[in-house]
Amino acid sequence: MVSLGITLLILSPFLLLLFFSFPILSLSFILLFLLSYLLIFCKSTSRHHRKLPLPPGSLGWPYLGETLQLYSQNPNLFFASKQKRYGHIFKTHILGCPCVMISSPEAVKFVMVTRANLFKPTFPASKERILGRQAIFFHQGDYHYKLRKLVLKAVMPENLKTHVSDVETLALQSLKSWENRSINTFQEMKMYTFNVGLLSIFGKDEYLDREELKQHYLTLEKAYNSMPINLPGTLFHKAMKARKQIAAIMSKILDCRRQRKEERNDLLGSFMSEKEALTDEQMVDNIIGVIFASRDTTASVLTWVLKYLSDNPKFLQAVTEEQESIVRQKEGTGEVGLTWADTKKMPLTSRVIQETMRIASILSFTFREAVEDVEYEGYLIPKGWKVLPLFRNIHHSPENFPDPEKFDPSRFEVSPKPNTFLPFGNGIHSCPGNELAKLEILVFVHHLTTKYRWSVLGPQEGIQYGPFALPQNGLPIRFLRKT
Ligand code: HEM
Repeated sequence: MVSLGITLLILSPFLLLLFFSFPILSLSFILLFLLSYLLIFCKSTSRHHRKLPLPPGSLGWPYLGETLQLYSQNPNLFFASKQKRYGHIFKTHILGCPCVMISSPEAVKFVMVTRANLFKPTFPASKERILGRQAIFFHQGDYHYKLRKLVLKAVMPENLKTHVSDVETLALQSLKSWENRSINTFQEMKMYTFNVGLLSIFGKDEYLDREELKQHYLTLEKAYNSMPINLPGTLFHKAMKARKQIAAIMSKILDCRRQRKEERNDLLGSFMSEKEALTDEQMVDNIIGVIFASRDTTASVLTWVLKYLSDNPKFLQAVTEEQESIVRQKEGTGEVGLTWADTKKMPLTSRVIQETMRIASILSFTFREAVEDVEYEGYLIPKGWKVLPLFRNIHHSPENFPDPEKFDPSRFEVSPKPNTFLPFGNGIHSCPGNELAKLEILVFVHHLTTKYRWSVLGPQEGIQYGPFALPQNGLPIRFLRKT
């Protein structure tokens, strides 16, 4: 721009002469000059970006990149060793895509919050087609904003308050069905979180055949990581058929609600609300999407809560005492069951859940894609490259959490530094369901610790990733009612 000023200064006597002699011609000349200058300026800026170095790191073998190194070991060892060698920002190449991995709170803020418009969420093609292209995860801008508002409306505390006793009934049913059995914790937790998910979506809708919907969803989820080949016999083909069945179930429910002109405070009610109603297709994609986002995530955290409580008897004792004191406070009041207010009297239990989410970091990272060439800290992140904020590295960095491998809920007595605690992400795509997730975990832990005990069966160490971090084999346990 400085050179534009100098050029204009040099040319100014000629321009003045030209202007007074041929005013229209000279105006066109000036406009043309400015336009071409702007074009050259923009080009040189992008060339300037091109001159920037890429972040340090290695891109590995052609096409394969470093995929084998990543998947032949615990992926966190790969991230940690790269971070140790190259620092908080490094490049690599996995699953056919060049990537930049970031692990400082500042870089996460840049990518997920302040310059989120430069980085769009990105998923494998099969996931996009199975969940449905109109699901919230795949969008930016106005449509995304509208969907977020509708989801948040359904799971805001005012609404959740009215669901506490129904969530409690579901927790009690699950726990009762485990009594005096050996169970796989994660598999059982998935049933509980599925039921809570359906409750938040459909309320207690009497027209819904929950079991039929669950069966179709289970067929669908088997294809999440499959090749998107729609030929008879493939998982993907079965998933596409299951989507149609789910759409048919939804269509019946929508008909009933429309005929009765029912206004409901559940998620479907929010999607159908008069002012901002979604199309039927958009509703199907987003309901499948919310089941996907809410079920395995919450079930994994709950599984880790059981694991860390049994590994740390001191905290199990303290949580049990906190929960028993709530039971005692209610005795003689005539109040039956937990209320929203009760869930706010569980500070120690809440810290145990926070610490569980930090240490377990069930989502080790997330994916974004640069929508244009971006400069960050003097490095170029080229357009089209994937950008992975590494949540687990941030949660396990001693700079953010001293003695990070120690399970210590008391560290949450003070708020963590900004952008260091990200179990629910951050920015415009952060988790809108976090209040619902916390509610269903707290209600579950209340009844778990006041009425039951459990012991872990088989090997107690080891983590599996699929894709969420989980205790080995989903944590098999022996589950007993307290006498
Ligand atoms: C403990 C359980 C949960 C965890 C750890 C969790 C974590 C996350 C994270 C990290 C993100 C952001 C991902 C990104 O930025 O790429 C996210 C997004 C999302 N979560 Fe959750 N989640 C949980 C439970 C739930 C529940 C119960 C719901 C139900 C409403 C839900 C609905 C969503 C939706 C719809 C999004 C996409 C938001 C958007 O793109 O704007 N999640 N979740």
